[in-house]
Amino acid sequence: MASASKSTRKGCGPKHSNSPTIIVMVGLPARGKTYIGKKLSRYLNWVGVNTKVFNVGQYRRETVKFKSHDFFRTDNEEAMKIRKQCAMEALKDVCKWLKGNGMIAVYDATNTTRARRNDILDFAEEHCFRVFFVESICDDPTVVEQNVAEVKVNGPDYRDTDPDAAMEDFKLRIAHYKESYETIDPTIDDDLSYIKIIDVGRRFMVNRVADHIQSRIVYYLMNIHIQPRSIYLCRHGESEMNIKGRIGGDSSLSQNGREFAVELGTFIKKQDIKGLTVWTSELKRTGETAVHIGAPSEKWKALNEISAGVCESMTYAEIQRNFPEEFALRDQDKYHYRYPMGESYHDLVTRLEPVIMELERSENVLVICHQAVMRCVLAYYLDETSERLPYLECPLHTVMKLTPVAYGCKVESFPLGINAVDTHRPKPQNVSTTREPDKALETTPDYP
Ligand code: SIN
Repeated sequence: MASASKSTRKGCGPKHSNSPTIIVMVGLPARGKTYIGKKLSRYLNWVGVNTKVFNVGQYRRETVKFKSHDFFRTDNEEAMKIRKQCAMEALKDVCKWLKGNGMIAVYDATNTTRARRNDILDFAEEHCFRVFFVESICDDPTVVEQNVAEVKVNGPDYRDTDPDAAMEDFKLRIAHYKESYETIDPTIDDDLSYIKIIDVGRRFMVNRVADHIQSRIVYYLMNIHIQPRSIYLCRHGESEMNIKGRIGGDSSLSQNGREFAVELGTFIKKQDIKGLTVWTSELKRTGETAVHIGAPSEKWKALNEISAGVCESMTYAEIQRNFPEEFALRDQDKYHYRYPMGESYHDLVTRLEPVIMELERSENVLVICHQAVMRCVLAYYLDETSERLPYLECPLHTVMKLTPVAYGCKVESFPLGINAVDTHRPKPQNVSTTREPDKALETTPDYP
C-alpha cells in the first residue's frame, strides 16, 4: 500500500508567509528537472530572492566513482545506502543555506518515492521551512531521448564513455527508477503544495499554493518553454545626447547612429530569422534604430532607459558638481542607488519583469533598448549578480545574440563596425562619500 504524505508531523507549527522554502524537484531522470531548477533559481536571484540549487547527483559524484546503471538498481543495498547518505548531506547544506542568507533552496534530485519525499517533509517541518514540489512528467520518447543525448551523454557521469554505450546505460538507469516511481497523487498527496508540469508545459496541475513566492514560481513555470530560439539584444544607435555626454532625455540619432540603423537592418536580414519580432522602448532613439529592419515591431514603455530623475539630461561632470554626495553614493552601491525623483537598477529590474516573462513566452525577438536596460536583461540571461549587473559591458553598435542551451545561454557578440562614443565606465576604485571630485569627468562623458 502506498504510504500517505498526510502526516502527524510535529514541528514548528504554522509558518510565516516569508518562511524559507525548499523547492523539491520530482521526476524520473532526463525529465528536465535540473534545467527547470537552474532556470528558476536564475529568475529568483534576478528578482532579488536569494536562491541556490543543491544537486544530489553532484554529492553522489563527490562520494563515489560512477561505474554503471547497476548503481541505481533498487536491489543494490550498498548503493542505496550511499544514495540516501548523499541525499541527507545535500539536505544538511540546504539547511545551512536557509538559516544563513538563503531564502530559497532548490533541492534537485529525483525524489521519486513517497518515502523520500516524506523524509524531506519531516526535515523541513523540523526546521520550519516551507516545501513546494515541482514534478516534471514526460512520457514523450522523442523529448526524453533528445534530453539524454544532449545533456546526459555529454554530462559528468559519461565523460570517457562511448556515446551509444552511455545512451544505453542511461536508459537502464531510467528503467530502475521507474520500478519504484510514485508520482505525486492528487488524492494521497492532497495536503502538499505542488505543481506538476506535464509534457514540457503542455498541461499543469497546481495544488495548494501557500504564499506569494509559490504563486510567483507557478507563474514563472507556466510561462517558460523549450522551443529553440534566439534573443537579439542591442542598444539604440548613438544619439545626439550620447555625443554630448548627457544622460537620459529623448534625443534623435546622430549621423553615426543612423548609419548603425542601416547596418542593423542589413545584419538582421542576413541572419534570416524565422518569425522575428522587434521590441523597442517608447523613446525616439530606439524607434529610429528599428526603421530598416522590416519586421513587425512593438513599443514597450517598460524598456525605456532608467530615469535619472533630477539628473536627467545632465553630464556626469554636472551631476558631480551639483550633487556631489549623490554622485559618490551611486558609486558606492550602483545597483541599489536611486536617483532623486528617479530610479535605481533594482527598480529597473522590477519594471522589466513583465518584459522577461514575455520574452520567456516568445520565440525569436530583437530587443532594441538602452544601456541600463540591456544590462538588466543580460544579467537575467547570464545569471549575473546584482553587484556586477550595473557594470556589464554593452557597447553601442554591437548586437548580442543569446541562445538558450542545455543549462545556460550561449552568447555571441556582433560589433557592426560603425563608430560610436564609448559609454562604459568601469567600477571606480576606492569610493567614499567624501571623495575628491574626479577631474577626468570634466572632459570625459559618462552614462547611466
Ligand atoms: C544521482 O545520483 O544522479 C541522482 C540521485 C537521485 O536524485 O536519485
